Amino acid sequence: MQLSKDDFGADFTWGVSAAAYQIEGAHQTGGKGASVWDTFSNTKGKIKSGETGNVACDFYHKYAHDLLLMHQLHIPNFRFSISWSRVLPNGTGFVNRSGIEFYNRLIDFCLELDIEPWITLYHWDLPYELEKKGGWANREIIDWFNEYVQLCISRFGDRVKNWMVLNEPMVFTGAGYFLGIHAPGKRNLRSFFAAAHHAALCQAEGGRLIRSLKSDCKIGTTFSCSHVEPLTQDADDISAAVRMDTLMNRMFIEPLLGLSYPVKDLPLLERMGEFILPGDEQKLAFDMDFIGIQNYTREIIRYSRLVPLINAKIVSAGRRNVETTAMDWEVYPESIYHLLKKFGAYPGKTQLIVTENGAAFPDILSDGVVADEKRIKYLQSYLKQVLRAKQEGVNVNGYFVWTFLDNFEWAEGYRPRFGLVHVDFSTQKRTIKNSGRWYKNFLDAATY
Ligand code: FCB
Repeated sequence: MQLSKDDFGADFTWGVSAAAYQIEGAHQTGGKGASVWDTFSNTKGKIKSGETGNVACDFYHKYAHDLLLMHQLHIPNFRFSISWSRVLPNGTGFVNRSGIEFYNRLIDFCLELDIEPWITLYHWDLPYELEKKGGWANREIIDWFNEYVQLCISRFGDRVKNWMVLNEPMVFTGAGYFLGIHAPGKRNLRSFFAAAHHAALCQAEGGRLIRSLKSDCKIGTTFSCSHVEPLTQDADDISAAVRMDTLMNRMFIEPLLGLSYPVKDLPLLERMGEFILPGDEQKLAFDMDFIGIQNYTREIIRYSRLVPLINAKIVSAGRRNVETTAMDWEVYPESIYHLLKKFGAYPGKTQLIVTENGAAFPDILSDGVVADEKRIKYLQSYLKQVLRAKQEGVNVNGYFVWTFLDNFEWAEGYRPRFGLVHVDFSTQKRTIKNSGRWYKNFLDAATY
């Protein structure tokens, strides 16, 4: 069956997603303060290959050129994030005018080209000055974050109609404060629980603050999610899969929906109790206009006595003899269908938007062409599953490809290329991949 944009309906939102630290570079330009990712990536041994985001795609200087490319591909919506330490170099207090001006130019040029900006307020790059005070593990983050949100809405809210509060709280708290593989590189269970609870509070408080400042905008927040299945039908594997699913997919959305933390299915979460103050339960809930679903793969889980606390282990795709991407993530399109059904079944039926989906493959640029047919196939097959969920009544109304430009893939450095546009990082030359042309043709299809 040929996939057509029309099948999704005329009011379906199509776009591409990106994040400040992964593309902007200019890490010390125009008065920008350091973020946790600046210090982390510039610390030896933290990033595979020793690379940093110091230059990345140099989007800070090349944004106009890149937006023109986006326009050329007829992409109508661009999701990007604001670098907190570019506008507030110390995290709070002094406002950096050049930083504000950069985002003004970026937003204005988007609008001039008829590209709708969708802003993520926090995509992982906490100002380093705030990390020195404990970062997300310090409850004061709620006040720091409110100050930052207030600044962004007051400066950019007149033109930006779509806001996302956080990007994937499970990843920046789990990988950043427990596993230590992302900035700020902490490995401490208590810090993780504190950071997680404060992030969950900020996601709701941030939403409330935006709504109180601006009535005519759409407010959402985004979640990383992977469809989880047990390795076997043994009771131990099944209950291990339930615990992992709770951790990966439910821990942040359920308190937001007013359902509290899912302690029953993951008793470990009881330990978060020491950070929960009277009145917090109500503060965790907020009625978002949309929920951002970000999916790439599925996870197969088995019971393991050796993994403390959760007794569950991910069976890597590499051991399962399945098709994988350059991230070693399984290509499993049905994952997005199951997740849309799962998130769509929560009470309230908040609108869902796929705010990230995409794949990294070892692209080769040859004679000015990147023949990334695998990426095209990946996007088509996931989109079919989005459509399947929509046709079964799930309230899903948007899809953003991760991502526009090849960029700095966090701890993995520049090796995994996710872009619709190839970037030669030594010359900063951009080349539209075949997948970029495919997306253009797809978006050009007749509309109602
Ligand atoms: C998501 C992140 C995004 C990007 C993709 C591949 O978890 O939100 O920044 O790195 O994965």
